[in-house]
Amino acid sequence: MDAFNLLKADHRKVEELFSQLESASGQAKMRVFEQIKMELELHTHIEEKFFYPALEKPKQTHELTLEAYEEHDVVKKLLQQMSRAKSATEEWEAQAKVLQENVEHHVEEEENELFPKAQAALSEEDIEELGEQMAAEKERKQRTASKSSSKKSANKSASKSKSASTAPKRARASKSASKSTGSSKKSSGSKRSKKSTKKSRR
Ligand SMILES: [Fe+2]
Repeated sequence: MDAFNLLKADHRKVEELFSQLESASGQAKMRVFEQIKMELELHTHIEEKFFYPALEKPKQTHELTLEAYEEHDVVKKLLQQMSRAKSATEEWEAQAKVLQENVEHHVEEEENELFPKAQAALSEEDIEELGEQMAAEKERKQRTASKSSSKKSANKSASKSKSASTAPKRARASKSASKSTGSSKKSSGSKRSKKSTKKSRR
């Protein structure tokens, strides 16, 4: 798998999601946003774990890579801020616009500047290997995410059936359901460790 093709396919997918976000409204809009968030977090993760470290050393890609890390940080912060909202307020819409503009700028810079320079700096084998590594990591992450979400929905339906059959136990069942969602949120948060340490603040 060619690393550039994999990353470009991700870029096209996110572009498509952003155009869906523009036309969606209400809760459907928030669901599209959740998808964008998931895609961007996965994409920035695989780039930061495999792609950027390979491009930090070569002279011709060094500066652009440091810039790319910074751009990822801006995007991640915006995603965190936006994910706290329950509905699309005016402020949220403004953040969504800024997020889209940031992502578009980043994608343009990667595809027009970083990728051509990376193509020159890396060997064909490196590019293939990076592609394989990123594809495998994506698959692994997606599998973990779908496992935890099916676990969550199983918990939910279990507590639902409990409360349906025995009404007095309702309060207890819903308490345990909210407890379990809380703890899974916590564990996914702690997994998001910061990787890049070589930052040049501008
Ligand atoms: Fe990126």
